[in-house]
Amino acid sequence: MRILFIGDIVGKVGRDAIKTYLPKLKQTHRPTVTIVNAENAAHGKGLTEKIYKELLREGVDFMTMGNHTYGQRQIYDFIDDAKRMVRPANFPDAAPGVGMRFIQINELKLAIINLQGRAFMQDIDDPFTKADELIAQAKQETDYIFVDFHAETTSEKNAMGWYLDNRASAVVGTHTHIQTSDERILPGGTGYITDVGMTGYYDGILGINRAEVINRFLTSLPQRHVVPDEGRSVLSGVIIDLNKEGKTTHIERVLINDDHPF
Ligand SMILES: [Fe+2]
Ligand SMILES: [Fe+2]
Repeated sequence: MRILFIGDIVGKVGRDAIKTYLPKLKQTHRPTVTIVNAENAAHGKGLTEKIYKELLREGVDFMTMGNHTYGQRQIYDFIDDAKRMVRPANFPDAAPGVGMRFIQINELKLAIINLQGRAFMQDIDDPFTKADELIAQAKQETDYIFVDFHAETTSEKNAMGWYLDNRASAVVGTHTHIQTSDERILPGGTGYITDVGMTGYYDGILGINRAEVINRFLTSLPQRHVVPDEGRSVLSGVIIDLNKEGKTTHIERVLINDDHPF
């Protein structure tokens, strides 16, 4: 099984990058399944039903989310029907949505789990014990288990990778929007990268217009985040190959921008 995972799609520039590059990426790499993190797909915060459907139409098979899951009010109206999406599983059970789903691709079944870190983030439930619980559940149905760990610190993400080594097929980090170059296969066969990076406005700061962010650092005053609708883009992703036992045999970064053309 070959998984193509694309990191945090930010606003229209990110969605346009998917439109432009996903068909080419699919042609070149022939993934079995394409998963994207869509927590910033709608104007940088959350996901609308229209964008959810648009991404599926464009060839995305599945979406993971993060701390911006509930950024658009209309998510409450469609999250229960959105069978191709998971939100962080360690949100309290009362929060709408689910944190693990299975996707069937021909005769293969893949479990997709979304978890969120707690270091310098919202204090939600423990992602590590939640991972134990979900992986035990998933193992009853499949050896193919993909985890998107949406977290801020390199240490918490590294800890999750090692914690799930030999249990998850792959653990990829999202949320920081900057791709790390530490992709590897852990000794137990778990593919790992600390952060896949984002897909959006290349000349901004994490996909956001620069001026307000810099001003925030200069003044410590609150600023409105502006997500531009046009500009140069970056697409960040990772390709992961799994063998029949659900172990990673190959992991490779994808980075497309004007400095690293496709
Ligand atoms: Fe994000
Ligand atoms: Fe995030």
